Amino acid sequence: TALFGVIGDPIRHSKSPIMLNRAFRETGVNGGYAAFHVTPERLEQAIAGVRGLGFRGLNVTIPHKVEVMQFLDEISEGAQAIGAVNTIVNENGRLIGYNTDGIGYVRSLKEEAEPDLSGKTIVVLGAGGAARGILWALAQEGPAAIFVANRTEAKAVELAGSFPSAMRISAVPGNGLQSVVAEADVVVNTTSVGMSPNVDALPIDPAWLKPGAVASDLIYNPLKTAFLSRAEERGCRIHGGLGMFVYQGAYAFEYWTGKPAPIAAMREVVLASFV
Ligand code: ATR
Repeated sequence: TALFGVIGDPIRHSKSPIMLNRAFRETGVNGGYAAFHVTPERLEQAIAGVRGLGFRGLNVTIPHKVEVMQFLDEISEGAQAIGAVNTIVNENGRLIGYNTDGIGYVRSLKEEAEPDLSGKTIVVLGAGGAARGILWALAQEGPAAIFVANRTEAKAVELAGSFPSAMRISAVPGNGLQSVVAEADVVVNTTSVGMSPNVDALPIDPAWLKPGAVASDLIYNPLKTAFLSRAEERGCRIHGGLGMFVYQGAYAFEYWTGKPAPIAAMREVVLASFV
């Protein structure tokens, strides 16, 4: 049996074990995947445990995605550029770190909402860790321009400036947001605004959106945020956050096993776990 797991703090709400175990069963891979609660002071020992026990792969979640990098043997180009690792592959004792969050998001966006991102204008709302991975992955698709907007404007400026200028990522000042959104083909909310089920909070005024544009939200609980509902009323195509979770796990599965991930089964089991 090949061993897999996810480490985080907290970890008990993780849906990765049900999703990955279903994927192994679906494809006939003899694998087992469990969640492990690892506090920051035990991170180094946990990675030593991966080596000692011969785990084939590990997912890494909050708060370990940056700190874990120092304990690995090799970091992929993408994970280096993003500065965070969420997937580790054990290649005969060599631990290699990858980041599948951003590419998982983009694969979901392309499969579910907008197959061709080249030449498009994209707005990313928020400038935290999630925004960073998504910006890098979106830039690989050859868009015309990517704009970052954030409540704390200085963080958007810093984030945009940390990428090579060839990636065409720039910060938008708060007072310029409406006009940039009006021209955008894709608008992505990476902030936590809209996550609380009781408050109809919106990251931007949906009336700013161009009808026919894609409105996308990383939040997957609720599956359809107030932002997405209002964007849909405005005539936009909408894209929720569940696919990002499914595809980041799908990439991890594919790196570990070399087989195509059973996307439909993975999505189905995660959806079923919401009730
Ligand atoms: P993550 O890893 O999920 O991106 P993060 O690094 O804590 O989390 O980033 C959270 C992002 O959501 C930030 O861009 C934050 O804006 P600030 O930089 O101004 O803090 C944004 N955010 C969180 N709550 C927000 C709110 N109520 N209104 C607007 N933006 C908010």
